[in-house]
Amino acid sequence: MNKQDIVRLSWDEFDEMRDPRPDNNAFDAVVERAISRRGFLGGVLAFGSAAAVMGTGVLSSTSSAKAEGATFNFEPIGIATDHEIHVPAGYSWKPLVRWGDPLFKDAEGAYSPETGVPVEMSDRVFGENTDGMETFVDGDRTILAINSEYVNPKINLPAEAEGMPRNADEVKLLKNMQGVTVLEIADSGDGYAVVLDSPYNRRITHETPMTMDGPAAGSDLVRTNADPEGRSPKGTMNNCGSGKTLWGTYLTCEENFNGYFGTTAEREATEGEVRYGIGGEGRYAYEKFDERFDLSKEPNEPNRHGWVTEINPLDPESTPVKHTALGRFKHENAEMVQAADGRVVVYMGDDERGEFIYRYVSNGTWAEGQPTDGLLSDGTLYVARFNDDMTGEWLALTPETTGMPIEEILVFSRMAGSKVGATTMDRPEWVAANPLRVEAYCALTNNKNRGVKANAGGDEQPVGGPNPRETNNFGQIVRWRPEGEDHGADTFTWDLYVMAGNPKAYNNVYAGSDNINEGNMFNSPDGMAFSSDGMLWIQTDGDDSNEGEFEGQGNNQMLVGNPETGEIARFLTAPNGAEVTGLTWSADRKVAFVGIQHPGGNWPDGNGKPRSAVISVWREDGEAIG
Ligand code: FEO
Ligand code: CA
Ligand code: CA
Repeated sequence: MNKQDIVRLSWDEFDEMRDPRPDNNAFDAVVERAISRRGFLGGVLAFGSAAAVMGTGVLSSTSSAKAEGATFNFEPIGIATDHEIHVPAGYSWKPLVRWGDPLFKDAEGAYSPETGVPVEMSDRVFGENTDGMETFVDGDRTILAINSEYVNPKINLPAEAEGMPRNADEVKLLKNMQGVTVLEIADSGDGYAVVLDSPYNRRITHETPMTMDGPAAGSDLVRTNADPEGRSPKGTMNNCGSGKTLWGTYLTCEENFNGYFGTTAEREATEGEVRYGIGGEGRYAYEKFDERFDLSKEPNEPNRHGWVTEINPLDPESTPVKHTALGRFKHENAEMVQAADGRVVVYMGDDERGEFIYRYVSNGTWAEGQPTDGLLSDGTLYVARFNDDMTGEWLALTPETTGMPIEEILVFSRMAGSKVGATTMDRPEWVAANPLRVEAYCALTNNKNRGVKANAGGDEQPVGGPNPRETNNFGQIVRWRPEGEDHGADTFTWDLYVMAGNPKAYNNVYAGSDNINEGNMFNSPDGMAFSSDGMLWIQTDGDDSNEGEFEGQGNNQMLVGNPETGEIARFLTAPNGAEVTGLTWSADRKVAFVGIQHPGGNWPDGNGKPRSAVISVWREDGEAIG
């Protein structure tokens, strides 16, 4: 494949290129089994609004959404196929910060519609491809921490580069456009804007010095020539979803880190590299200009990425910490809650077809004002097993249960999960916990390999449980309620909050669950967050062609779900080409900040290059959003 084609691939397609489906394979048996299980599948859907899909039987006592009437205080909007943002009547929006916007006065005017951002200003501006974000308050000041997930070389580099850096300066530019931005915002009467030169403003990139803690820190697996102690990794990359700790720090989650490493010399891939999709050529050719990214020189460098990293946005001098106790995989986000006894619990998804959902539980407990030492370095990592009878359990990943030393369990968590029989899922994206009830939701975005082939570790992906559709192009949201209303409990019951689908194109399981209709349909749920009033906000990252089985679904969008009734209503549509990802609110919930990633056309400026951006959305009457 030539470099032009590689640049065009999504991260998901990049994985598929490295782990293609064999022409003649042993997976036909899996397909056979999927077909023979259609009886079971029919049972779940016939159960439909009674239990498995609407949650009425097992998890809640409310009736079907369609019987309830609207419970949203906005008029849901239709689909769009244009290059604009649409919000309900009575709401407005405007960009808060776009790729290339200055964080400091010396970077004003750095961005050019023709050429983008020059390398010398690349760490003084807002990064590209905004993703997870959280709001922090310091007295009367508002600070946002925002991920820049990846970079589009075709937009950032001159056309002659053909989408691949040609020298160390171009590599530096790409590196600086990613990572995390901390910035202060203020409302001076005309809506929120970035406070230039705020002491909080800070870029955290692939090069920022960090530390590591937890059982894998200092182990042989994470030592390199530059860091023989294995405790001082540099940088963070592919920062996807986010989380906020109970004590007010930011969690940035390293997702498709594998694609940043390549080799300049022929070498045999290890089992761990195969499972994580590491090897061959890196996506951005970093390895040609920086030995740190060359597997033939630094085979352990990838083991220092793929972690949940904690940043204190209120202390610009603080050093970010990679928490190995939370496991290494393609972290989507990190949703922190608390067990009944005060232990800290973090739910996490591993976004790849057929990978797992994880939970971390601290050994220590925490309450307001108490020290936080050890809470994210001393605990147990678990992986989820979902049973067909709508029960499930968290399986501890320990030397006893896996036969692996603890540092291997953490660095190669996927392999540990396979050993204990975790359930292969339809690409776990964000997890969101309901603030009003002890339950959590995970977006399973889609999985074209469900019932078709095994995951990269050889674990089968049978149709069943919370992954009930073969070749699942639409996705679903699973939710679980822990036993005894305690996030620390090791067992739970589960149901599907929604199965996305197209009731116009299908009258079978691909039509979706009862709470999907022609007026609210979508595909590929991804970002999710609860607002403080207990509503579930769902963002999509899917097929926005509006053709074939996606006809009638339009551009990617943000919807609101009522956890009690199952009702779902469309609130926002993105410009064509974009996904909607990342959501947080001002402290008074009067302004929502929404991430628009990889837009098409020349949104939002109307000229020049397309610019990913965080937008502000507010109610024109000044009331809280929702
Ligand atoms: Fe970065 Fe799985 O989305
Ligand atoms: Ca995502
Ligand atoms: Ca996605």
